[in-house]
Amino acid sequence: MGRGHLAPGGLAPEDILRLEDDRVVFLDQRLLPEHEVELACHSAAEVAEAIRTLAVRGAPSIGIAAAYGYALAAAQGEDLAAAAEVLAASRPTAVNLTWALEQLREGGDDLAGRARALHREEVDRCVRMAEHALSLFEPGARALTHCNAGGLATGGYGSAVGALRRAWEQELVRHVWVGETRPLLQGSRLTAWELERIGIPHAVIADSAAASLMARGEVDCVVTGADRIAANGDTANKIGTYSLAVNARHHGIPLYVVAPSSTVDLHTPSGEAIPIEERAGAELTERFPALNPAFDVTPAELIAAIVTEQGVHREPYAESLAGARRGERARTA
Ligand code: MRU
Repeated sequence: MGRGHLAPGGLAPEDILRLEDDRVVFLDQRLLPEHEVELACHSAAEVAEAIRTLAVRGAPSIGIAAAYGYALAAAQGEDLAAAAEVLAASRPTAVNLTWALEQLREGGDDLAGRARALHREEVDRCVRMAEHALSLFEPGARALTHCNAGGLATGGYGSAVGALRRAWEQELVRHVWVGETRPLLQGSRLTAWELERIGIPHAVIADSAAASLMARGEVDCVVTGADRIAANGDTANKIGTYSLAVNARHHGIPLYVVAPSSTVDLHTPSGEAIPIEERAGAELTERFPALNPAFDVTPAELIAAIVTEQGVHREPYAESLAGARRGERARTA
């Protein structure tokens, strides 16, 4: 660990990922919560490998990592077109990856400065989303979240977890159910670790326990992040989110998606067109044939609200989400 053991509380953005003169440094998320170890990457290809192997993960963090990888490539004198290509190919579903590369390619010469600014802006979006999301919680709510949409996934603060944190500070949320998130356990390894560090009461549940908890009246809302939100509001997120959405609708429980506008993809009209990453079957079983889609799509009609830094968006989503991408405030609140 380059900077010593991490202090309790929310994670500092530079402890999650940062650009140094000749390297990009990540807190290696594959080793958490047991080990707090940093991974240093010295080329765009190494950053792409860190993204592909989930050393850094979560849609906004993937975008920030790609921006840092591109800026590093420029500093090292690498071929920038090749660097962009290898970074863009590292994971297919989170649109933040291509969004961040576009941001860097379209701007001026100070790539390192712009990549660091993009990181700061993404964290700032999370803080603003959390403030908007307060209006969604009844005092004392018990929320269920899936995967990890915390500081680790967003370069700091968190999208879904940031909203839960702010609501907990205001005594609007009193308990968080954490879906373990098979097969790579982002919930039980990463979200539980983050909640413990902040001090938010929580309990890990098997993914398959969610419906029965809902039936017993122990879940007041479901709050998740997103990897790509299509123009119509259909949302790709970690596999299992769709199942939660169907179960939540059956039990009359709202499902909220909290994600920055960098996750909204206006070029993808609906969920059908979102590329879904398929990962190695060995993540599920070493012995038998396996199918391992990493994400699923929740149709917009099952989402009670989408929160971006521009406010709370309600159905029909198309106009409101397009406005968010243009930097316009959401009309509903
Ligand atoms: O495969 P991962 O761990 O990168 O998947 C991450 C998720 O599905 C998150 O919920 C999503 O990126 C939102 S992160 C703010």
